[in-house]
Amino acid sequence: MGLLRKTSASLRYGTATATQSGGMDQLLRNPAIVNGLRKVESRVARLSGSSALPGINAGASRVINSGGKRLRPALTLATAMALGKTPDRRVITAAACVELIHAGSLVHDDLMDRATERRGAATLNSDLGDGKALVIGDFMLARAGLAAITSVSRPVAEVLAATVVELAEGQYLETTDLFNPRRTEASALRSITGKTAALFRASCLVAAVCAQASPEDRARMAAYGERFGLIFQILDDLLDLTATSEQLGKPAGNDLKQGVYSLPLILSKANFLTNGDISLQRGISDEQVAAILAQLRQTTMVETTIEYCRGLAAEALAALPEIGDHEIAGILRSLPTAYINTIIRTINRPALTSTS
Ligand code: IPE
Ligand code: IPE
Ligand code: MG
Ligand code: MG
Repeated sequence: MGLLRKTSASLRYGTATATQSGGMDQLLRNPAIVNGLRKVESRVARLSGSSALPGINAGASRVINSGGKRLRPALTLATAMALGKTPDRRVITAAACVELIHAGSLVHDDLMDRATERRGAATLNSDLGDGKALVIGDFMLARAGLAAITSVSRPVAEVLAATVVELAEGQYLETTDLFNPRRTEASALRSITGKTAALFRASCLVAAVCAQASPEDRARMAAYGERFGLIFQILDDLLDLTATSEQLGKPAGNDLKQGVYSLPLILSKANFLTNGDISLQRGISDEQVAAILAQLRQTTMVETTIEYCRGLAAEALAALPEIGDHEIAGILRSLPTAYINTIIRTINRPALTSTS
């Protein structure tokens, strides 16, 4: 079983993977969160099976049932509780919409990446072809928007619709910089903010909106979610360059093959350039990928990237509002650093672990 994924078809929140064992375990095992996620799960299942076309239902349900940590809806539930709101029907539906958008975006992402495997299983594009995968992904994004407007509220629907816009823009920006060795840190940051951090931000913000939190608390939780989302994507990018395919449940080094100059690569480059240049080429072989990965291991990429993430974790913590519920406060406070430490353990660099 892969270290970084949930492979079970039926979701088992009690089963920790290595990624969860530190950073996410507290969040995903909290009894109130587990209870809320059960409800979210049946809402997501209903929504993903709600097309008039059985083929779409089968495809969308397959994606939903293939696993996934449910990290974003867990953040929605935690934020609601942090702001004094017991998750009600609206919060549960908002969390389900967030997960449906995430899952739909993965379907599109796999299509763009020509990925054959996710969560240890075949992707929709590899199984059904690009056309069907494209429209099933569309269905999932659109269905989330419809549920948000009919069953949550207009403000929440607006947040989610704006997030899908950002997601598309972030993914688009990535394509404009493929195979561009001059991609800048700012450009990579803008892309990952749109494609990943925006949905983490929205996961927290929709709960704050449902909780009728003050504008300041909304902004604080949104900033927390965004910073954590950035950490999450940057470490996913780092793992692509440092972990094995078996650990990931998706092919390692895929970003290199796709020509993505991810942030860890950009951050490492200044040091790396003194020894020679990395230049990603179209159609590089597995051997060439392995050679680049080996060269990268000689750089300070891991250290620099972890340092960068620690800065974001500090910002996430500083953004958190006053939280009355001590347990939820502890979970949200420890999540960014604990997650960074879990990744450090996964890539076997214990010396980089920090408790602060
Ligand atoms: C994968 O996200 C996509 C990225 C933003 C890196 P997750 O790792 O949260 O995906 P699942 O839902 O748990 O498979
Ligand atoms: C995350 O980017 C994709 C989305 C936010 C939709 P990646 O391309 O890095 O995600 P993985 O590595 O395929 O899971
Ligand atoms: Mg991808
Ligand atoms: Mg990735």
